[in-house]
Amino acid sequence: MLDDGAPGGDLRARMRRFYGSSQTYKGLLDAHDEAYSAPYVDLVLRYAGRRTRVLELGGGNGVAARMLADAGLAVVGTDLSPLFLREAGASARPALGYAVCDGFDLPFADESFDIVCSNEYLEHVPDAEAALDEMARVTLPGGRVMVMGPNLCSPFLPFREGVLALRGRRDGLIWTDGPRDAWRQTRRNIAVIADKKRRSEPQFLHRAPDLEDRIIGGDADSAYLATPADMETYFHRGGWKVIALASGGSRKGRLVASVMPRYAPYLSVVAERPLHT
Ligand SMILES: C[S@@+](CC[C@H](N)C(=O)[O-])C[C@H]1O[C@@H](n2cnc3c(N)ncnc32)[C@H](O)[C@@H]1O
Repeated sequence: MLDDGAPGGDLRARMRRFYGSSQTYKGLLDAHDEAYSAPYVDLVLRYAGRRTRVLELGGGNGVAARMLADAGLAVVGTDLSPLFLREAGASARPALGYAVCDGFDLPFADESFDIVCSNEYLEHVPDAEAALDEMARVTLPGGRVMVMGPNLCSPFLPFREGVLALRGRRDGLIWTDGPRDAWRQTRRNIAVIADKKRRSEPQFLHRAPDLEDRIIGGDADSAYLATPADMETYFHRGGWKVIALASGGSRKGRLVASVMPRYAPYLSVVAERPLHT
């Protein structure tokens, strides 16, 4: 599954068609309500400081953008899919606008937002470096990029499936075929992250997304094996300050995120653009 070659433009066009038309996916996003978005909104508010102008990317149905505006920020909520954003416009107001736009080609001037943020977006892009370049381009000096989502290189994902499989819960397996495969992937992911930690250049690993309009589960449509070590190296290389890498919801999750953030199952990367470059 691991592939370090970024797929090209044809895949981008196929993904745009998929997100622009999949009613199945739209149905899944209906479940992304306020409770679902709360940890992400909390993260943005926690790290916003006095920053107020927010661009949200890959926001799906726009609920999180609305929550950020409700908390007092001036927000532009965006997504690639006009279908997913269809109902969001009803809650637009002066401090909350919505726009359909592609994260690879943002229709905004350089250095125009204090915060550029996303939840469960970056793992769906077929060229992570180009997508991060766009996020960085529109961020003001002193502004912050915040990226939240699953860490798709975390050894905890296959490990958890290995435990499920041993308990006879094969219906819960998404990434692995059974215990043997789960242990193999756990060991491999530990090695992948250890290797990334040693690198001074990020190595973004991509995969071919499954764009069949079936029940989409377990990030089958992901195209980038998102992991905080890549973003850490990417932002350090650009002279940005990396403020956070991971977070957790439960006490156990928070402990893992603080002790081994690059290995934790969820990433919450916060990076600040330097005032002078
Ligand atoms: C898993 S959904 C997450 C939606 C939302 N952030 C949430 O938490 O509910 C991934 C989203 O990324 C969007 N997306 C995928 N590729 C994109 C791109 N190139 N530019 C902008 N949005 C994109 C999809 O349309 C979809 O809404």
